[in-house]
Amino acid sequence: MCFANFEVKSETLKVEQLDVLHVSIEYFPAAKAGGLADVVGALPKYLNENNFDTAVVIPKHHTTWILAQKWNPVYKGKVKIGSKVYLFSISSHDDFDSHALYVLDLPGLFDRQSIYIDTETGYGYTDDHLRNIVFQTAVLEWLNSMRQYPKTLHCHDHHTGLIPFMINHCTQYQKLNKIPTVFTIHNGAYHGAFDWKDADLLPSFDRNAKGLLDWDNQINPLACGVKCCWKLTTVSPGYMDELRYDSNGLESLFNQEKDKSVGVINGIDTGVWNPATDTRLDTVYKKSIATFKQANKKALAEEFDFDIRLPLVTFIGRLAYEKGAQILPDLFCRYLDKQQDVTFLVLGTGDKNTEKLLTNVQKMYPQNIQVRIGYDESLAHQLYAGSDFLLMPSKVEPCGLNQMYAMRYGTIPIVNNVGGLRDTVIDLQKKDGYGICFQKATVFSAMDAVQRAAGIYQDSKEMKRLQKKVFELDFSWNASAQQYADIYQTLR
Ligand code: GLC
Repeated sequence: MCFANFEVKSETLKVEQLDVLHVSIEYFPAAKAGGLADVVGALPKYLNENNFDTAVVIPKHHTTWILAQKWNPVYKGKVKIGSKVYLFSISSHDDFDSHALYVLDLPGLFDRQSIYIDTETGYGYTDDHLRNIVFQTAVLEWLNSMRQYPKTLHCHDHHTGLIPFMINHCTQYQKLNKIPTVFTIHNGAYHGAFDWKDADLLPSFDRNAKGLLDWDNQINPLACGVKCCWKLTTVSPGYMDELRYDSNGLESLFNQEKDKSVGVINGIDTGVWNPATDTRLDTVYKKSIATFKQANKKALAEEFDFDIRLPLVTFIGRLAYEKGAQILPDLFCRYLDKQQDVTFLVLGTGDKNTEKLLTNVQKMYPQNIQVRIGYDESLAHQLYAGSDFLLMPSKVEPCGLNQMYAMRYGTIPIVNNVGGLRDTVIDLQKKDGYGICFQKATVFSAMDAVQRAAGIYQDSKEMKRLQKKVFELDFSWNASAQQYADIYQTLR
C-alpha cells in the first residue's frame, strides 16, 4: 500500500512525453560495476540521436561521481514496504548532454558508495532484495503520479525484473499496465531470488498471479521479468541460444518464451572509446596504428617494468568464475614454466582466492607477470591501447564489451568461443578472420591460444595487418540502437 505523493514538479512533464524510460541499477559514468553500466550509459545517447526521446532512472548511490554533480529536485514521494515507510526523492541532472538522467534517492538503502558489495564484509549486501523492491516500487509510484506515461519501460537485469509484474498485478499500479515493457538480460547468472516469506515486501498483488513470481519455490525476479515482459532481449544472439540449453534451471522458461525473445548485440560508445581523443592515454591515435600501439606499450612497459619486446597479453575484468578468471594462475604458471616469451598483465578485482593466487604467481615470475588488483577505468583504457592481445577465457559471456574496446584500440582478442564472443570475434583461420578463438575455458585450450598469439607476434607484418583490421571494424551502437528502436516501434 502506498501513500499519496506530496510534490510534483514540472520536470515530470518531460517524463510523460518520453518514448523510453530505462530503469537500471547501473549507469556509466554515475555508477559502474560492469558492462551493464556501459550499455545503459550509451544506448540512450544513440537512441536520442535517432529521434527517440529517452531517459534513465537509477538509484542515487553515493558514488563519488553522483555526489559531485548538481541535481535538481523533481519529485518527492513515499512508499510503504512491509510495515515500513520509505521516503524518496527524485532529481535530474543539472546539465547532461544528450538525455535526461534521474537519480532516485532512498536514504538508508542506497546511500552507499559501493553498488553491490558491502565494503565491510567483502560480500554482497544482505538487504539487496529489499533495496531492489523499494527502488522499483518508488519508480512506479513516481510514474503513477503522472497524467501520461513514457511510451515504453525498458528494464535491465533482475534488479528491475519485477516491474513488468507489478504494473500488471499490483492493484495500485494497474493504471500503468498498458505501458509496453522490454526486459533485457545482461547477465542471466544472477536471478535475485528470495524467499516467499518476504512476499509481504511487495506491493499488494493479485494472489491468482502468484505463479508468475515463482521459480523453484522462490520469488525469482529474473524469471518473473522473463514471464511478464512484452519483449525479452539478451545482449547477443549467441547468448540467447545458450540460455535455452544452459541457464541455471531456467532453460524450459527461455524455450517457452522463445517467440517474444531476441538477441541484440551490444555496441560500444565510440565517443568514450575513441583512440584519437582519449584523454586517459599517453599517446592518442593520429595517423599510424603501429606508432599508436608502440607509444602506449612503451608507457606501460615503463610503468610496469616489463620487456617491451615480448608480446603483452592482458586480462581486464572481474576475477569471477564466469569470466574464467580462476584458470589464470594455473595458465600463467604452466605457460611460463615452458617458455618465457610472453608478458601477462592482469587488471581486476573479485574472488579473493584468485587475487591471492595471482599475486603469488607474480612473485614466481616477476619478469613475465604483472598484476594490479583493483578497478581502474583509466588504466583499463591504457591497457587496451598498449596491449598486443586481450585474453577473455570467459565460461559465460552474454555479450562482452572488452573485446570490442580492445579491437577499437588495435588489440587482438583471444577468446573462448561463447555467447557474444562467438558473435563478435572470428578466428583467423576462417575467411576474413581477425582473432584467436578457443573452444573451452580450460587451462590447456587457453594455453594453446596464447601460444598461437606468441607465434603470430613473431611475424610483424601479420601483426600490423591484424591490428589495422580490428581497428577498422565497426562495433558502434548504430546498428544495434536501430534494432532497439524497431522493437519499441513494434510494441506500440
Ligand atoms: C554483463 C555481461 C557482459 C555484457 C554486459 C553488458 O556484464 O557479463 O557480457 O557485455 O553485461 O550487456
